[in-house]
Amino acid sequence: MINKVVIKNKISSFKKSINVSGDKSLSIRWVLFASLANGTSQAKNLLLSEDVMAAINGIKKLGIKTSLNKKTCKIYGKGIDGYQYQKKIILNAKNSGTFGRLIIGLLVNASRPIKIIGDSSLSKRDFKRITDPLKKFGTKFKLYKSKNLPLTIYGTKYLKPIKYFETRGSAQCKSAVIFAGFRAKGTTYIKAKKSRNHTELLCKYLKLPIQVKKTKNYDLIKINNVRKINTINYTIPSDISSAAFFIVLTALSENSKLIIKNVNVNPSRVGIITILKRMNIKIEFKNTKIYKGEKVADIFVESAKNIKAINCPTNLNSGAIDEFLVIFLIAAKAKGISYFSDLSELDQKESPRLKLGSKILRLMGVQNIVTKNSIKIFGNPNLNINKKIIIKNFLKDHRIFMTSVIAALTFGGQWNIHDKDSIKTSFPDFLKIIKNLQK
Ligand code: S3P
Repeated sequence: MINKVVIKNKISSFKKSINVSGDKSLSIRWVLFASLANGTSQAKNLLLSEDVMAAINGIKKLGIKTSLNKKTCKIYGKGIDGYQYQKKIILNAKNSGTFGRLIIGLLVNASRPIKIIGDSSLSKRDFKRITDPLKKFGTKFKLYKSKNLPLTIYGTKYLKPIKYFETRGSAQCKSAVIFAGFRAKGTTYIKAKKSRNHTELLCKYLKLPIQVKKTKNYDLIKINNVRKINTINYTIPSDISSAAFFIVLTALSENSKLIIKNVNVNPSRVGIITILKRMNIKIEFKNTKIYKGEKVADIFVESAKNIKAINCPTNLNSGAIDEFLVIFLIAAKAKGISYFSDLSELDQKESPRLKLGSKILRLMGVQNIVTKNSIKIFGNPNLNINKKIIIKNFLKDHRIFMTSVIAALTFGGQWNIHDKDSIKTSFPDFLKIIKNLQK
């Protein structure tokens, strides 16, 4: 089957209300917490994507029963020490950095060696950033080329709590250490550069022994040994990282308006909203509420006029880390030169997104200057593409595929965008929702 889309026309104007799929970070975390709970937890609107399935299949290999249909997922947890470590377990994290990294934190006390593998993209990513702090608890690791997958975990019962300074703003590193902290006797201290805080909020909701003190740039976290986790029934709100594609699609389309319902707008995730508002895009949250500690709202957005360039403050980076590719599309149409810096973490994602984002802009005829950690984008409010663009060999990165679709639908040109299947990792319904906007 042909694994690409061909787009030759811009999208026509639309006024609609849509739902996008469940939040990926929350879905994977729910699976992990539920797998350690005492009893049956149930989730609705769980993201049924390959990344989340990797997490579900992973806990199944650890002896946890699950049941899944289109509407609900049930996980039959057996308590904090309920994992079974059979001989030669191999967990395949596939494309999922979040599952691959977080589960390692939960396996620091495994009684048998466990091997973690992933697909070719995940196998290029840095796992030393996880194993370095976890080693200090007393667990041993063997990594391919000292930093990559496949890796093997050699757990220990004798886990010492640690002090950890997280400097990258990585929620995956922070969360893996919190999970390992569950298992150590005594208090683990973390000083973490700001990043998404879903793990901490779930811990708080479950009344686990965690304390978080917020300072301007860092969170100071204390975590103690956990003996019991209660079951958790959760209706997963929608993912702002999936909503982002539709926010940008609407902003860059003519005469259009969109409502995206019930999106997780946790303050640690809304960097894109702050950035786009500063660029003069009209976005509003309505019906804001708190659900199990997480902020949720309907997002209202409309076609943009007079987009302004931005010199993006670096403190907004972590809250927008998965959205920069689509933010670059807005900058491509802004009046003036936009500048984004301190972005070396972007090249640590499913593909080197800073480098590849710059390459897509160049293919679109958008002048830009990229360095190791920054990009300057020379915006053109009259940008209109008239040529053929082929997007191929971008490491099957789902966000590259979806960004290219949005660019094709808003700037014109003839686009052949390969690796359509990549959307299965995070947003399988993406193309279906686009189609429905045109009905
Ligand atoms: C995630 C954290 C971020 C983000 C990823 C999901 C999470 O990664 O890019 O898509 O759920 O914790 P880093 O921890 O590498 O910044």
